[in-house]
Amino acid sequence: MGGVTRAASSPDAPSVLGLAPVIPVVVLHDADDAVPLARALVAGGLPAMEVTLRTPAALDAIRAVAEEVPEAVVGAGTLLSPEHVEDALVAGARFLVSPGWSPRLLGAMKDSGVPFLPGVSTASEVVTLLEEGVTEMKFFPAEAAGGTPYLHSLASPLPQARFCPTGGIVLESAPSYLALPNVGCVGGTWMLPADALAAKGWGRVRQLAQGAAALAA
Ligand code: 3PG
Repeated sequence: MGGVTRAASSPDAPSVLGLAPVIPVVVLHDADDAVPLARALVAGGLPAMEVTLRTPAALDAIRAVAEEVPEAVVGAGTLLSPEHVEDALVAGARFLVSPGWSPRLLGAMKDSGVPFLPGVSTASEVVTLLEEGVTEMKFFPAEAAGGTPYLHSLASPLPQARFCPTGGIVLESAPSYLALPNVGCVGGTWMLPADALAAKGWGRVRQLAQGAAALAA
């Protein structure tokens, strides 16, 4: 990625799946919420967070967390193009996530120098990404695409592939995903209910993060 000046250094961990067992998926409408939200997640035991590029506030939110909450590992999600990848890196994203992938997007992710999770939902996509040397993937939309039975079915023929399932996962269902041999972490929004975000209820977010972090204990 020529010309990219990164606001943060590459992450210590070479793998997204090794960052944390639960990765909150954050949709922020007000970038001013990013720092208190990140602090609440870290205090609750969830150091990694994916800020989705679905709102105009997203890049400012990533920048703020990267600069002001060094104990958090902030990544960028909902990446759909090489331009998104470059914007995310400039803002300080330390890992990259996409709901699906294309050859252009995958190329940009590979060139980024930070860990990344391209989204897949079929065995053929997994085989194609393995051919590309990619072994870590987001499984999305996890529940709608077949959930734990589907992922379990992939483990035997495709043991090299490891997943972060995301989409429709809640506190009650997360343990069954984390118990699978080919799952390294799960993503979700259940610890960030809309009413808590609207009320800036950071204490509640911290409590919900504690509940999510306890899944891995
Ligand atoms: C997403 O990208 O929206 C994530 O998959 C979060 O999904 P969830 O809200 O169902 O947890």
